[in-house]
Amino acid sequence: MSESLWQSRPADLYGRRKRDRLVTVFWGLSRLFSVIVAASRWTPAKVVPVRRTIDAVITERVELTPDVVALTLVDPDGGLLPAWTPGAHIDVRLPSGRVRQYSLSGPPGRRTEYRIAVRRIPDGGGGSVEMHGLALGDTLSFEGPRNAFHLGSGESDLLFVIGGIGVTPILPMIRQAQAAGMNWRAVYAGRSREYMPLLDEVLAVAPDRVTVWADDERGGFADVADLLADAGPRTAVYVCGPSAMLDGVRIARDENADAPLHYERFSAAPVVDGVPFELELARSGRVLTVPADRSALAVLLDDDPTTPYSCQQGFCGTCRVGVRAGSVQRHGRTAEADDEMLVCVSRSGGERIVIDR
Ligand code: FES
Repeated sequence: MSESLWQSRPADLYGRRKRDRLVTVFWGLSRLFSVIVAASRWTPAKVVPVRRTIDAVITERVELTPDVVALTLVDPDGGLLPAWTPGAHIDVRLPSGRVRQYSLSGPPGRRTEYRIAVRRIPDGGGGSVEMHGLALGDTLSFEGPRNAFHLGSGESDLLFVIGGIGVTPILPMIRQAQAAGMNWRAVYAGRSREYMPLLDEVLAVAPDRVTVWADDERGGFADVADLLADAGPRTAVYVCGPSAMLDGVRIARDENADAPLHYERFSAAPVVDGVPFELELARSGRVLTVPADRSALAVLLDDDPTTPYSCQQGFCGTCRVGVRAGSVQRHGRTAEADDEMLVCVSRSGGERIVIDR
């Protein structure tokens, strides 16, 4: 550095650079200061969501449990699928046009094929039933992968809390943690081993690190103390499972503000501090009432089960509708224009809102 600094010193009127130590030191400090100022203005590149749509064909279909099927997806032309990291999911567009999110549960980063797993919910929105009806050779399209559930760097003491189908994003995390030599444990809870998908693969990673809580063996549900028995105050907890499990763990960990907690929901979060409002459907003029404890999306689905949605958590944008009148109280995690509303999480800012439906 000193040589290049010397070469970059200003020359005198005759193009000579004097070997004056004091001048060199001052010149060097001024260069260093300008480099630091420039660096302080650097901002990391923004991560732009990938919106490309990719086709994939189903090449394998495995019944993991009586209600969960695993599908293997590959590029129809035999190419590589996009890169991904543990915790990632894809937004699958079903033949009916429904969009649903599924975590990638295969070996971390595998690009020759993706594996997703789908739990059949007979009284759900119809997406899981449709997925279960797909056969080998059927083609799907998807967007992504996207990841909102990363394995954090700098965390060395980890506890994975798994409930049923919540195993899908966590299994690749466990494999990565094991490969990286991290100190991890896992507790996997379900009603019986028969209904715990991918349990064999979780145990295969390191059986002595995994606690299996099968309700039929233990004589009842695991409570939060059972789930967090291996979590110290500084243990990073990763939880994915039913809402009751997730909310219980969150409340327990919130009591310790320093306790790192990461979670992923597969369903809508409960509405907290909601205020009722009226939802006017502009095209028909009908007015629906949204109660304090329900989302506008839930009410719209009661009215029309084909109402589009996916994440139910305000980040995928699938449920976006136009707003013709009224103000929006925004709770989404993706951009909403002034005249748009994510009906899964956002609410009316007044007594009534008119939407473009
Ligand atoms: S369903 Fe994803 S943002 Fe509303």
